[in-house]
Amino acid sequence: MKRELAKEKARELLSKMTTEEKVAQMIQVTYTDGGREGALKWAKLGAGSFLHVLGDDARELQQEAMKTRLGIPVIFGIDAIHGHGLNNKATIFPSQLACACSWNPEVARKMGEVTAREVATDGLHWTFSPVLCIGRDTRWGRVNETFGEDPYLIGELGAAIIKGYQGEDLSDDEHILACAKHYLGYGEATGGRDAYDTEVTERKVREVFLPPFKKAVDAGCATIMTAYGFLDGTPLTANRRILHDVLRDELDFDGFVITDWDNTRSLVWLQHIASDMSEASIMAASAGNDMIMTTKEFYQGMLDALRDGKVDISVVDEAVLHILTIKYEMELFEKPEKKGEPGCFGKQEHLDASLDAARKSVTLLRNNGMLPLGGNVKKVAVIGENADNVRAQYGDWTYFTHPVPDPENTRPAIRPYVTLWEGVKEICDQSGIEAVYAKGCKVRPIEGQNEDADLEEAVRAASDADVIIYAVGDVIPQFGEFSDRADLNLSGRQFELFNKLKETGKPICTVLISSKPLCMGDTAEKADAVICGFNGGMFAGTALAEAIFGKLNPSGRLPISFPRHTGQIPVYYNQMPGWHGGKYNDLPIEPLFAFGEGMGYSAFAYEDLAVDANLKLTVTVKNTGDQDGVETVQIYQNDSVSSVLTPVKRLIAFTQVALASGESKVVEIQLSNDDFALINSKCEKVVEPGEFTVFAGHSSKDEDLISIKINL
Ligand code: BGC
Repeated sequence: MKRELAKEKARELLSKMTTEEKVAQMIQVTYTDGGREGALKWAKLGAGSFLHVLGDDARELQQEAMKTRLGIPVIFGIDAIHGHGLNNKATIFPSQLACACSWNPEVARKMGEVTAREVATDGLHWTFSPVLCIGRDTRWGRVNETFGEDPYLIGELGAAIIKGYQGEDLSDDEHILACAKHYLGYGEATGGRDAYDTEVTERKVREVFLPPFKKAVDAGCATIMTAYGFLDGTPLTANRRILHDVLRDELDFDGFVITDWDNTRSLVWLQHIASDMSEASIMAASAGNDMIMTTKEFYQGMLDALRDGKVDISVVDEAVLHILTIKYEMELFEKPEKKGEPGCFGKQEHLDASLDAARKSVTLLRNNGMLPLGGNVKKVAVIGENADNVRAQYGDWTYFTHPVPDPENTRPAIRPYVTLWEGVKEICDQSGIEAVYAKGCKVRPIEGQNEDADLEEAVRAASDADVIIYAVGDVIPQFGEFSDRADLNLSGRQFELFNKLKETGKPICTVLISSKPLCMGDTAEKADAVICGFNGGMFAGTALAEAIFGKLNPSGRLPISFPRHTGQIPVYYNQMPGWHGGKYNDLPIEPLFAFGEGMGYSAFAYEDLAVDANLKLTVTVKNTGDQDGVETVQIYQNDSVSSVLTPVKRLIAFTQVALASGESKVVEIQLSNDDFALINSKCEKVVEPGEFTVFAGHSSKDEDLISIKINL
């Protein structure tokens, strides 16, 4: 149903609702609090939505909701972040951060489409995804959930995955609602502390944090989730300027806004800006939150406030209208349960999409010629806990981590999946190569457990092999919500084990299976090859092994910079100029690996960069290597003189080009005036005429770029 008609119907229904029914419609209840009985009680009261309920439990609640006086169906939300991961039968994709290594919107779109189909098959309507936060402070536990550090790349991938989730029509049985989150600035939390203060100005918000949300709104995203933190002292939950004036009036958002988990109660007990639930409820609703996640006290708090005349019913009406409009647009009243495709979990097309995403995300960062492994290799040693740890490979928001965190590995992993060790072993078996595996040490050691013998065993296995594949990384309790790190060095004895392996004199390929960039030190700098896999999903092991043996020419590029040392954070590429000295005394000037970096078994040369009067950019790219490959052409700009500081470089476009060995192509990209705009000191978006430098090339590093000056 079209939005306008849906709105009309919503208005009509609203006119028939009692105050209690309206306020209940604004509540989203979690099944895990109060269990089945509690949830049924809320369904009878007319709660608008439930989260984290699956299958028959959801069906039962829906039937109860349909029996209420006006028969308003509920919508069910779930965190299906990289696949419908809380259902253990579902297809698990690379995390958002791993997916972003593909720099490929089609990969993100397909991930959304498959996820939507599997969520819909579970009878659910809505995923709390994508995360559009900016991953600049990598101490933050949720960096794995982001598309990286760059607003442009995040916006492109975010819009693509939203289209994948929602399809063309919200009433379609195989598509679900997307929810762009967390609006706004969450990733910028001071000190990397989850959900804490965000030290930014409105100008910076508009320059950095808002653009991905603008693209999400333009892509038709039906819902937006607010952030836990606060801007300039005002919690986002109570921030009408951000939630209403900017989101609705400027961005033209026409869906509904949901708070994050218990944000409304937090106004009282955590942030201390409201003295009781009635005050907090007024604040949250007046600021522009339409649906209130998990704060059931909102119901009574709001009813009290309305009774006492402290808030006008129009505030509630507006919120309920937004919610009902989307329910009508989804045609929920006619078909309260999404049907999806029966039994589609993990069907071949879905598994293929996950493998394809993993392949396109593998990022080779260093190679002194060790890779691809060739015919002279007779024996391979695979070392490291994460080489055979499907939990670390899957990452957050999967059935290992939610709703009950399971750090002690007690839940069984469900096939199909392929770990790095299994992927390597399979290729070795096919090629008559011997392969051995040793864990070496735990990523997160168990206190009091002596690992000397495990280290010795790993070194013994490695000494006997021709090459070593060493997996390093982090494990579930080290990342995610509530799990920020002050020290990003590889934990446990991972460095020590690397040095012992190095002493064997065998070539070492380090593979990073982690939630986010870690400080890899010697394991990167002294390795012969380095590959980044992050949390690559079900088939990361296959994709990584294929890259190692040259069955895949890796094409991933980093969506985020790697610090050498935790003290170097933030290390994102698009910083402002003006640092005296421009480097720390005690560290090299560059990050360990830069935004956009990544290599394969081809090499690419750039020449003849031009931008014509209509802002059409052309550049010739040549594959100078001896293998066919895919290059990601990255375009950056810098404003020579501007009224406010502008970044040293800013990504404004990218595209991918497949080139056979020796082949050249002229790549064309249409730029627009908007790509050269800045946010001035009055918070207006303007293009200031004058000179700009346009860069084209292989990564954000100066040495990888060619440039020209243009005048606008
Ligand atoms: C997270 C959200 C998530 C919600 C529901 C919150 O704690 O911040 O990202 O969608 O819980 O699970």
